[in-house]
Amino acid sequence: MDQIRVDLDRVLASIDRNIFGGFAEHLGRCIYGGIYEPNSPLSDENGIRTDVFEALCRLRMPILRYPGGNFVSGYRWRDGVGPVEERPARAELAWNSVESNRFGTNEFVQFCRKLETEPFLVVNCGDGDMREARDWVEYCNGTQETALVKLRRQHGFDAPHNVKYWGIGNEVDGHWQIGAKTPEEYARAYLEFAKVMKWVDPTIKLTAAVTSDWDGDIVARAGLLVEQAGKLIDYLGIHWYVGNPTNDFEAYMAVSELLEDRLSAYEGLMRMLRLQHKLENPIAIGVDEWNVWYRKRSEAGDFSNTLEEIYNLEDALVVAIQLNAFIRHAASVRMANLAQVVNVIAPIFTNPNGLFLQTIFYPFELYSNTCGTTALDVFWKGDTFSTGNHIGVRTLDVAATLNEEKKQLALYVVNRSKTKALETAITLGDTGGFSGPVQVFEVNGPDIKSENSFDHPTTVGVSRTDLKVERKGYVHTFAPHSVTVLVSDLA
Ligand code: AHR
Repeated sequence: MDQIRVDLDRVLASIDRNIFGGFAEHLGRCIYGGIYEPNSPLSDENGIRTDVFEALCRLRMPILRYPGGNFVSGYRWRDGVGPVEERPARAELAWNSVESNRFGTNEFVQFCRKLETEPFLVVNCGDGDMREARDWVEYCNGTQETALVKLRRQHGFDAPHNVKYWGIGNEVDGHWQIGAKTPEEYARAYLEFAKVMKWVDPTIKLTAAVTSDWDGDIVARAGLLVEQAGKLIDYLGIHWYVGNPTNDFEAYMAVSELLEDRLSAYEGLMRMLRLQHKLENPIAIGVDEWNVWYRKRSEAGDFSNTLEEIYNLEDALVVAIQLNAFIRHAASVRMANLAQVVNVIAPIFTNPNGLFLQTIFYPFELYSNTCGTTALDVFWKGDTFSTGNHIGVRTLDVAATLNEEKKQLALYVVNRSKTKALETAITLGDTGGFSGPVQVFEVNGPDIKSENSFDHPTTVGVSRTDLKVERKGYVHTFAPHSVTVLVSDLA
């Protein structure tokens, strides 16, 4: 029998709810036809798709990154404010489309406020300049009698938007980026952008775009950036996308090992750099784009540029594995943004008549709604699997959180066996005891390749049962290829 033991005193770190953030880009049908579809009977008076809005509410994302992505490196924010009929359509080079600019800053901030999510705006550090960036901060957050503040008021927004989170550039380390930058160029640009943006509003939190090309000059980039601008960095932004291009289930499930490597390496690197440069301010990791993405990419032979990935059950498991990694690394990962939210590599998929929820929607929804305030260390013993260079990978991928206020323990378990149900003894350490039945939520489906669709929207979903427990423990059998969340009240 496998064993999971949780000791309520073995606290890893507090959890920042911003790890359940999202990302919306002007790309394919994420904004137009996803979030915003003015002439649809499904939309409200502001053109917001109410069905999409309701589905997004279920995900309880505390922060939403916008407007890109690669898109932002050619974006002019001024094109997207003011009377809609006067806004210019522009050739959009990142995704080879035409941007109408009907949806822009004010529509986005309004949408976020209604969704009760914090807007996170990324400024153009590709073909844009620092003047444009600081002007955007002033337009959004300014309170003085300046031309930009008057312009915002003229556009119907008297009160400042108070946008707290800003990013400087996107994936500047990638050759695919408009205005890609060498480590030296970006460190210099970041310093100057950040300086003036924080002069306009010293309360804003800034994310630097450090790593998206994991074959690139990762250490040199982070080193130069922290050396030159460390005091002005709140988050080091890293991106990753994972997938199963070789159709090898075990190798795909072992992605946890890669994530552990990446996060631990970054933690070590940041510790070293902060020591070296005697930095007193904390610098967190923001995984400001993450997800499964491998089918609809040009390297995979798909040049449609709409990124309409259809997810299956194994992808849902991998989304849960990524969330487990964020919980285990809660001390350093203080923000993460699922890329993206609708249609484009997303948990919600629309057509003009409605939507269906993709497989990956369910683990995200469950984690976001049950995650506690504190990450706990977990003892685990049991079945393992080996694949490629990875020997003895635990079959159950586990994380745990404590909600101090509700006195609730949430245990997150991914069973990565395709065939084997794993009977597991779950016990508490010396402190505390279980009280009342455990709520068991399980994401599963008939097969690892099961998908949802308009015709079969619930092939993969969540089942809910209650389990009777003893004060100090219980036994639960984790079904093959499942994500299980066990929520228990504590005495
Ligand atoms: O999310 C899709 C794209 O992935 C983003 O535009 C870019 O930042 C990343 O490469």
